Amino acid sequence: LIYLDHHAATPTCAAAREAMADAEADGWANPASVHAAGRGSRALLERARDRVATALGAEPSDVVFTSGGTEAVSLGVLGLGRRRTAIVTTRVEHPSVAAAADRLEAGGTHVIRLPALGGRAARVAEVRSALGPDALLAVQWVNHETGARWPIEAWTEVAREARALVLVDATQALGKIPVDVAALDADAVAVASHKMGGPSGAGALWVRRGVDIDPLLVGGAQERGRRPGTPDVVAVAGFGGACAAVESRCAAMARIEALRDELERCLVELGGVINGDTERRVPTVTNASFRGWRGEHLVAALDLEGVCVSTGAACSSGKSEPSPVLLAMYPDEPWRAAAALRLSLGPETSRDDVAGATAAVRRVLSRAHSPNDFE
Ligand SMILES: Cc1ncc(COP(=O)(O)O)c(C=O)c1O
Repeated sequence: LIYLDHHAATPTCAAAREAMADAEADGWANPASVHAAGRGSRALLERARDRVATALGAEPSDVVFTSGGTEAVSLGVLGLGRRRTAIVTTRVEHPSVAAAADRLEAGGTHVIRLPALGGRAARVAEVRSALGPDALLAVQWVNHETGARWPIEAWTEVAREARALVLVDATQALGKIPVDVAALDADAVAVASHKMGGPSGAGALWVRRGVDIDPLLVGGAQERGRRPGTPDVVAVAGFGGACAAVESRCAAMARIEALRDELERCLVELGGVINGDTERRVPTVTNASFRGWRGEHLVAALDLEGVCVSTGAACSSGKSEPSPVLLAMYPDEPWRAAAALRLSLGPETSRDDVAGATAAVRRVLSRAHSPNDFE
């Protein structure tokens, strides 16, 4: 198989697998139990918390473990947004942010959705004028579909000046670019394990000390009451292992960028039009539209060729609707959203993978196909 869907999930790295094997053996007891077996699990949980905190530049006690990115984002947006009268977000968020904002809107909160026309970031002045002291800015750092890297430092700075709260969805940032919450003017930052070499089933929300957040769940006092429920110690330990290896992951980005650029050059040669801003983006992804084709047909044909790619967000895969992110970026060119292929790379990607994927795309495009309804 040629796996080019690292923005959906990454293969677990060796450090994560090792930490999970230890936790399988010694972390089965309930970490809230006071006896020796429970204390063993607790120690593994806290070791993972230290590792995640180090990767984020945070204090361990400010890290709340969750089941993944969606739960971390939901806790951040709903847990901070419930007490706010306005949410400022963008039109190109992952569904976890977008749907949380929709839910608050249904309850009467005013929601402002900033544009990202042509895949470019909203101007700082636009963000500033949308924000007031009773707002929550809820935005991603890196776009899951095009890899756009938004100017989050500038946005959080103006949010702070406006005395707004800030939730940053860093799910696609951790492991690709340096994340240092101490240097970021945010109140909460969401991350997920399976986007950076850890297993799925674990994520975290960093919450600034002193910031009140309403838990989503009710129950016990785990995670200092911010996330009741018994955690998945094995998954969390794997997340910790991946975080311990985050620097070497980031160090691989220059090599990955060269592979992505080569892949992208070939896709353009084959008639692909690249979506998003190619100036400010992470090295792990290219998003190309093939006019006249439907993205989901290309994904299925490439799957038969042994190449794993996607049309966009994994949680929307299997739906035949075009990507809302690309529709928002290119409202006048809806064919782009319908014809999009997202190919995302990771440290495991080789030159041969790129050559094999390119050859497969060439074979698929040389066949007859059904017309794109969005033409
Ligand atoms: C930007 C972004 N935010 C949030 C999520 C949700 O993460 P999870 O898959 O862990 O629920 C994803 C997953 O693709 C994502 O790309």
